[in-house]
Amino acid sequence: MAYRDFGDFLDQLERKGELKRIKTEVDPYLEITEIADRVMKMPDGGPALLFENPKGSNIPLAINTFGSYKRMSLALGVEDMETLACEIEDLLKPEVPRGLFNAAKELLPKLAVLSKMPPKFQKGDGRCQEVVLLGDDIDLNKFPILHCWPEDGGRYITLPLVFTHDPNTGKRNVGMYRVQVYDKKTTGMHWQMHKVAAEHARISEEKRKKIDVCVVLGGDPAITYAATAPLPPGIDEMLFSGFIRKKPVTLVKAKTVDIEVPEDAEIVIEGQIDPFERRMEGPFGDHTGYYSLADMYPVFHVTAITHRKNPIYPCTIVGRPPMEDGMLGKATERLFLPLLKLTVPEVADMCLPVEGVFHNIAFVSIKKRYPGHAFKVMHALWGLGQAMFTKMIFVFDEDVNIHDTKEVLWRLGNNIDPERDMCLVRGPIDVLDHASRGLGFGSKIGFDCTRKLPAEGFQREWPPVIEMSDDVKKRVSAMWEGLGI
Ligand SMILES: Cc1cc2nc3c(=O)[nH]c(=O)nc-3n(C[C@H](O)[C@H](O)[C@H](O)COP(=O)(O)O)c2cc1C
Repeated sequence: MAYRDFGDFLDQLERKGELKRIKTEVDPYLEITEIADRVMKMPDGGPALLFENPKGSNIPLAINTFGSYKRMSLALGVEDMETLACEIEDLLKPEVPRGLFNAAKELLPKLAVLSKMPPKFQKGDGRCQEVVLLGDDIDLNKFPILHCWPEDGGRYITLPLVFTHDPNTGKRNVGMYRVQVYDKKTTGMHWQMHKVAAEHARISEEKRKKIDVCVVLGGDPAITYAATAPLPPGIDEMLFSGFIRKKPVTLVKAKTVDIEVPEDAEIVIEGQIDPFERRMEGPFGDHTGYYSLADMYPVFHVTAITHRKNPIYPCTIVGRPPMEDGMLGKATERLFLPLLKLTVPEVADMCLPVEGVFHNIAFVSIKKRYPGHAFKVMHALWGLGQAMFTKMIFVFDEDVNIHDTKEVLWRLGNNIDPERDMCLVRGPIDVLDHASRGLGFGSKIGFDCTRKLPAEGFQREWPPVIEMSDDVKKRVSAMWEGLGI
């Protein structure tokens, strides 16, 4: 299901009892964070919040709109995101068609789904351009941009969709990279070295040319999710969003730069980055639960701000988990599992616990077939896109419920001989990792928690797990009520 815009999504959340309006004046300087943090720590992530009177701005602020499994599913246009994961799995199934007629009958509907996905271009203005601010009228201070945590280097746009193009191929990328506000028309641009837009900037540096950038806020929530998704470079996030919402994204031309933006967005900040200009960015209370330290990042010079007549400012906070972004990570875990299985088919399931902040911890279950199989899977993951950042991978047998942390710890403790079952490697590490020996470079560890085979140096019998027999379970269930326990 596609939403008309971000406001339509908020209406849907309200109808489902998932949104709370706050009329009290609250300060975007720290106060909104404290309220949102308490709400995000509630069971099931609390409600989404719409602050109707943020102090110092007449623009309402929405936060925690993705912050529960239910809302994350609704953002993707489904009641349960597993439905979408199944659709992706189905689309990727390498079926061998039975005969030419069947080939057409079975494959054409799949291709028809795919052919409906590419974004459409609309001539003229979009709804995101009802108000156009140029020159001296450009002022980021009109928006209720959060100063999230006490030691933050300033105010940050925290849910930005950053549009850039590869200067060589012209291919679009949309990534979510935080934006620190320096003054009314200058910001930082925190694209980390491993991310696609950072590569666009490196290419523009080689070409000695400025790079056009648009920072988009709002639009169909599927687009916001897509900006966070670890799609391979060259796969268009707008195409992916079209697939999620079953309707193409409509784009319009930005006013001052050569970029097309979603016409239904709430706010668009247009501008340019000189690849040779750097400025101190940070510190920022980050999703690790620690501050990420200040460092030199590119500077974004705003050339126009466009917005709707009555825009809503969407944002989030990150910090000690669980937080709203944990659910964006959960969506990636579910939607990318079928894609992972395409290249690593022995993977049965994957769990990225929210406490592991996306990249610190992954639990994986596999259909183990041969000696060293768990190690093969670890290396496959470390070689796969942003999964390269995974600092600790724990591989279990297929029958382990890796979503149950109690079971995971029980199996992990019992099933490993650390020296034999551990694999240490060196390589790229998430830039936010503060413990690694250098920025973006360090070590990673894998644990083989599967049943061991003789060829893996295990010569004894692997003991069975204690289980009560079914007939006794049935007998006791029948007498349970009468026991008065
Ligand atoms: C709320 C939130 C904030 C994020 N902030 C940043 C950031 O400041 N810099 C960054 O490089 N990645 C950040 N990320 C992660 C990227 O959005 C993610 O790695 C994405 O896949 C990058 O897109 P790309 O592969 O097109 O570069 C953030 C993710 C979320 C959910």
